[in-house]
Amino acid sequence: MLNKERMDKLLIEAQQIAVKAYAPYSKFRVGAALLCEDGTVITGVNVENRSFGLTICAERNAICAAIAKGCQRFLAIAIYTPDSIEPVGPCGACRQVLGEFMTGSIPVRFAGSGPNQVNTTVGELLPFDSLHELRK
Ligand code: THU
Repeated sequence: MLNKERMDKLLIEAQQIAVKAYAPYSKFRVGAALLCEDGTVITGVNVENRSFGLTICAERNAICAAIAKGCQRFLAIAIYTPDSIEPVGPCGACRQVLGEFMTGSIPVRFAGSGPNQVNTTVGELLPFDSLHELRK
C-alpha cells in the first residue's frame, strides 16, 4: 500500500500534465500519472480527433507511453480533470486496459477541481478480471 504523501504527489503530477491535453471538441481535459515499479512516473493526456471515435483517453496514453519506455509494472495511477468540480472515473475501455497491466489491488485515485477525491482500486473498477483471476 502506498502512503498518502506518494498518492498526493501522483495526483499533483496528473494535475500538472492535464493542461497539456488536446481536447478542443469536448473541452474536457484529463491528465493521468502512472507510478512505475522502479519509481518512475509516466504521464499522459487525452488526445481528441475531429473523428470523435479516434479520441484516446489520458489513462491509455499514459499506459502506452510507459510500455514504450520499458515499464510494464505499476504501483498506482492518479487521474485528474480541471474541467469538472467532481471526480470523473476512467471509462470502460481504460478500465480494461488498466486491468491488462495491473492486478486488482493497485490503487487508483481520481479527482476534479473540487475537494472530493475517489480512492479505489483497479479491482473495484474492473471486477472479475479473468486475466488475473486465472493467474492466481
Ligand atoms: N477522458 C479521459 O481522457 N479519461 C477519462 O477517464 C474520461 C474521459 C476524455 C475523453 C475525451 O477526450 C474527454 O475526456 C471527454 O469524454
